[in-house]
Amino acid sequence: MLYKAKKFDLSGLKGISDQTLEMHFKLYEGYVKETNVLQEKISAILKDGKVDQEEMPAYSELKRRLGFEYNGMVLHEYYFSNLKKDGGGDPKRNSSFVKEAEESFGSYDIWKTDFVGIGKMRGVGWAICYQDPTTGRLSNHWVTLHESGNVAGYTPVLVMDVWEHAFILDYKPAERAKYIEAFFSNVDWNVVGERVLGPAAQPTRRSRAG
Ligand SMILES: [Fe+2]
Repeated sequence: MLYKAKKFDLSGLKGISDQTLEMHFKLYEGYVKETNVLQEKISAILKDGKVDQEEMPAYSELKRRLGFEYNGMVLHEYYFSNLKKDGGGDPKRNSSFVKEAEESFGSYDIWKTDFVGIGKMRGVGWAICYQDPTTGRLSNHWVTLHESGNVAGYTPVLVMDVWEHAFILDYKPAERAKYIEAFFSNVDWNVVGERVLGPAAQPTRRSRAG
């Protein structure tokens, strides 16, 4: 087995029930399992050292599914890891995250407006704040399903699942804003801060436009 599902101790979150989390952990475990299954099937095709013409349709489908299952696994790990019991509140004003948010957006509040705005977008996917490791800039993105919209090489810093399964046991489909509020009341800002590279770790910090 290539990957093992991780365990997350998150019971007692504010506004996200244990029942939701248990269901969500099961879904996550499904992504881990499917990632392993796909890798095994791909390995079996590669075993004889070639991808035959008649294997190509199956091989192509397995590879396409891999992007969905793999990102489903990894994004859930980021998501569960950036939540904690008794988390939430605002990040510390002098934290590396807030400094980068101010540099990239003008203020933490504008960063948050953008991130929350993405979270409210119609459709199934994720709101993700990434850091560009080259410039240090934070950048918020919408990711459709699990795999469309991830920026290559960027580091996920704060990851919010906005598929309906993330909140449907606790809120109505039209109440996504309440779930987003609940999400923010449980963010582990220490973990988020650890994901952010400080200026010293960005030796080539520069504008991409330059
Ligand atoms: Fe999810």
